[in-house]
Amino acid sequence: MSNSNVKKFYNKNTNKFLRFGKNAGTKVIHQPLWGEGVKTLEEALHFSHYLILKHIKEKNAKVVLDLGCGVGASVFYLNKNYKKECDFYGVSISEEQIKIAKDSFNNIKNCHFFAANFEKLPGEIPKADIAYAIEAFVHGTDAEAFFEQVAGKLKPGGRLILIDDMLTQKGASGKISQTQVRQLQAYRSGWMIGNLYTINQLNNLAENMNLKIIENKNLTSLMHLGRFRDKMIGLMVFLAGRWMDASPYWKNMKGGYSKQALLKTGLLEYQYIVFKKNNS
Ligand SMILES: C[S@@+](CC[C@H](N)C(=O)[O-])C[C@H]1O[C@@H](n2cnc3c(N)ncnc32)[C@H](O)[C@@H]1O
Repeated sequence: MSNSNVKKFYNKNTNKFLRFGKNAGTKVIHQPLWGEGVKTLEEALHFSHYLILKHIKEKNAKVVLDLGCGVGASVFYLNKNYKKECDFYGVSISEEQIKIAKDSFNNIKNCHFFAANFEKLPGEIPKADIAYAIEAFVHGTDAEAFFEQVAGKLKPGGRLILIDDMLTQKGASGKISQTQVRQLQAYRSGWMIGNLYTINQLNNLAENMNLKIIENKNLTSLMHLGRFRDKMIGLMVFLAGRWMDASPYWKNMKGGYSKQALLKTGLLEYQYIVFKKNNS
């Protein structure tokens, strides 16, 4: 997996995700989460934003950084719902996504977007109170560089929130079946996964960069796995799995189907992790 493949993929397929994905007009490119009190798809798509907004409010944030911001949907939601003065910065490796974000945010002066790699953040971005990455960290290729860059952009006491797939101890154990080996392989290549770690491994990497895990929660049970659409994709994988590999878009769908199986069998977890930057 390389950053340039990820860039190419999102440059080419973002419009398809926005057009054909079920996003209730929110333009988010992530998993809906059916947490407590959530009734509609729109609310489920914003659930990860509720989790982040809580930290923004607690820290009385003046600067917030979205790492892997897609077309800016999370920035849009957070900016609208955090009623205080705050500058939001979004970074995506896809120039196409940044173009869409900039077009949509034309008149919103406190939201700034950069086409850049989060493993090498632009110097213009100031230090943030809160940084977050929703379903973006896994696409990276150098987790150490990611944590180093983010730690460098956080104020002392600042927080980093990751919402993403993590490997479980069982998934990392190597004691898995041949089918599961194939599922992991399809997931890694279809979803362009470079960073797949257990929480313990992440903790070790982050600690070296002065970041400490202060909270984490397994959100897998809030996903609706095995919907009708997923069953249809499963049928396609069964009938035409090899053919799907020829198109990065369909290979991604196939990878998503394998991801579901890995979540169901406990080899992966969809995690919410909060890191705090040391004060010194
Ligand atoms: C699944 S999308 C999630 C988008 C957005 N966070 C959301 O929830 O709508 C993954 C995002 O990560 C971005 N991304 C992946 N690798 C990146 C990297 N190395 N640097 C910056 N952005 C990256 C992609 O361009 C894309 O915007």
